[in-house]
Amino acid sequence: MSEILLQVLNLKKYFPVKQGFFIKRTVAEVKAVDDVSFEVMKGKTFALVGESGCGKTTAARTILRLTDPTFGQIFFNGKDLSKLKYKELLPYRKRMQIVFQDPMGSLNPRMTVAQIVTEPMLFHGIVKNRKEAYDRAKTLMQMVGLRPFHLDRYPHQFSGGQRQRIAIARAISIEPDFIVLDEPTSSLDVSVQAQIVNMFLDFQDRFKFSYLFISHNLSLVRFISHTVGIMYLGRIVEMGDTDEIFEEPLHPYSKALLSATPIPDPIVERARKRIILTGGVPSPIKRPDGCFFNPRCPYKMDICEKEYPELRKISENRRVACHLVK
Ligand SMILES: Nc1ncnc2c1ncn2[C@@H]1O[C@H](COP(=O)(O)OP(=O)(O)OP(=O)(O)O)[C@@H](O)[C@H]1O
Ligand SMILES: [Mg+2]
Repeated sequence: MSEILLQVLNLKKYFPVKQGFFIKRTVAEVKAVDDVSFEVMKGKTFALVGESGCGKTTAARTILRLTDPTFGQIFFNGKDLSKLKYKELLPYRKRMQIVFQDPMGSLNPRMTVAQIVTEPMLFHGIVKNRKEAYDRAKTLMQMVGLRPFHLDRYPHQFSGGQRQRIAIARAISIEPDFIVLDEPTSSLDVSVQAQIVNMFLDFQDRFKFSYLFISHNLSLVRFISHTVGIMYLGRIVEMGDTDEIFEEPLHPYSKALLSATPIPDPIVERARKRIILTGGVPSPIKRPDGCFFNPRCPYKMDICEKEYPELRKISENRRVACHLVK
């Protein structure tokens, strides 16, 4: 049995939509994350998937307290971080890191790689001085497959894959327990993607990192994650063991989403039925009544237009929010 590292309970993040020239009034709310609960186990990977705009990044940013939650609790090793003040958060900041999609945007172009990689170690005081930080940075460079002399260069002198390695070196420099990987490989070539993903897996093996992995790439999610939550318009509609969900998705949205991932077996692949969703994702400002997915659902019933289905436990490892699934 593995232990829980992070437990998110009923998390909500609403953004006000303001209107007016001089006096700004709140006229609506974007319910970017709306009552989301999940757990990340120690040394394991939980993935969040779903179409663009469904709230994955907002959920991650709120958990890391880069933005304040509207409601809900964020238990990290049993301690609720949701209401902690800046100073109280510092010891937890040291244990959580994030790697973004775009390494150019997340690395300061005016800083050398050495400055970038040593900054968190110096800030959190886990090294005694600059010399020690620099020495550790050399080791980190080797760990992520770069040469120590690269430390004296600037981010623009590297390729996309190398820049992502620098971002990873920075993230692991303070030996965190938990790392958010927000589309960490989607800006990279496929061959480079594979190297970076293997590095994540290797580090998880060696250092028991827990990952929150956010991706559009479902093949990658299947390969890397132990458990997965499928999001639609700010809510999780299905959650459980990755293998079980990919074998047999139960929510109509998960079925449609997963039917779009290729299976590397031509016989299975040919026999498979694709579910093509009609219509786009509704606006998170004005969501449909009842189940948010009902306007696009091929199995819609009357009740689906009236009641939002609760996320019910339907087996030991599976929760589904659908009136059809008993
Ligand atoms: N700072 C903000 N102010 C207002 N609305 C925001 C803000 N940040 C995000 N949103 C809105 O919240 C919703 C969720 O956005 P988010 O970036 O979390 O989605 P995502 O699932 O990460 O999408 P993608 O796959 O494209 O990265 C979107 O409708 C977005 O427009
Ligand atoms: Mg995002």
